[in-house]
Amino acid sequence: MRSQIGQRLRGNLDELSSHNLLKVEQEIVSPQSTHIYLRALGERDLLNMCANNYLGLSNHPALVRAAHAGLERHGFGMSSVRFICGTHSVHRALESRLSSYLRTEDTILFGSCFDANAGLFEALLDADDAVISDSLNHASIIDGIRLCKAKRFRYANNDMRQLEQALREASNCRTVLVVTDGVFSMDGAAANLPGICDLAKRHGALVMVDDSHAVGFVGPEGRGTPARYGLEDRIDILTGTLGKALGGASGGYVSGRGEIVSWLRQRARPYLFSNSLMPAICEASLAAIDLAEKADDLRQNLSARTGQLRQGMTDLGFHVLGSDHPIVPVMTGDAAVAVQIAEYLCARDILVVPFSYPVVPDGAARIRMQVSAAHRTDDIERVIAAFRTAKTDLGV
Ligand SMILES: Cc1ncc(COP(=O)(O)O)c(C=O)c1O
Repeated sequence: MRSQIGQRLRGNLDELSSHNLLKVEQEIVSPQSTHIYLRALGERDLLNMCANNYLGLSNHPALVRAAHAGLERHGFGMSSVRFICGTHSVHRALESRLSSYLRTEDTILFGSCFDANAGLFEALLDADDAVISDSLNHASIIDGIRLCKAKRFRYANNDMRQLEQALREASNCRTVLVVTDGVFSMDGAAANLPGICDLAKRHGALVMVDDSHAVGFVGPEGRGTPARYGLEDRIDILTGTLGKALGGASGGYVSGRGEIVSWLRQRARPYLFSNSLMPAICEASLAAIDLAEKADDLRQNLSARTGQLRQGMTDLGFHVLGSDHPIVPVMTGDAAVAVQIAEYLCARDILVVPFSYPVVPDGAARIRMQVSAAHRTDDIERVIAAFRTAKTDLGV
């Protein structure tokens, strides 16, 4: 038995490797930034085009200082879940700050947004209810829905006709929850939130948005996709991460209606049965929200560098998905071409990641780049120049 599983998994790994699909973890030996060093590449300064460091806060001095001060004041860990003896004042302070930033009634912290999404459906919905989910929603939403007993409906990405059909079919259910990512992470495209909210209102359904790829930099004061469309009061449940624009350490949250958050404190399993967030991370996250709220200059630079990259790639004749988000997916179709381009760029000290099946649909391979407010004009020029020569050198 023991050798059997070893053999099976070795076979699986060899299979992945033979198709060039093995995920290789690069070891970074510098702080996370737009310029990094990898262990494997020694002294080479790499231009990083693939972090979720949208506002460039991952190594911001104010966050580092806040985390240091947090360590000094509160110590290292909590060694407890929240309801035993793991609730520190700084957890409550961060929950309350997230609520005031996002303009919601209440917020509950989780170890990650994955945990938040994995825990909330089971706690809120049962067999009398229905959940209607966009086909491109994040894996954590898919897993969370699998764990609950509600009837499940799926609509094609941003397809309002299919959503309406599902709402009709679910009309006999007690509670109907429509769930969408605010921004779809593989496509860099926003959800049609006005359309979703409109349909949900007409059919008496609730709306949940996972705004992990928007909070901090989309909408006024970076308050996210609902704020961008002026729909904050129409969203019942908002989830998000502290692991991307807001400093990039770890942690997630559910924010929204008071009674929903109160119930999650009683029933969400990843909240009840997992250790509470490190206080120093909460201190740094508080500093990140203070910065993000006022960071119009960073958001302006992020938007300008995103426009520069999107325009440059389009001018070269590449097919780029989305319209204005700093996730910039450059479509290659063929997985091998995506890998070839990534290797070509790496040889020129530019780090990008190729994505192929099963992370994206078969035949829809791509290079997904992510722009940061910390990128400079000449960084983006370098990327465009490298893609220009890749076109002729690789014949793509
Ligand atoms: C849309 C979305 N939701 C949730 C998550 C998970 O966030 P976390 O890293 O906090 O678990 C991610 C991260 O990849 C994401 O892209």
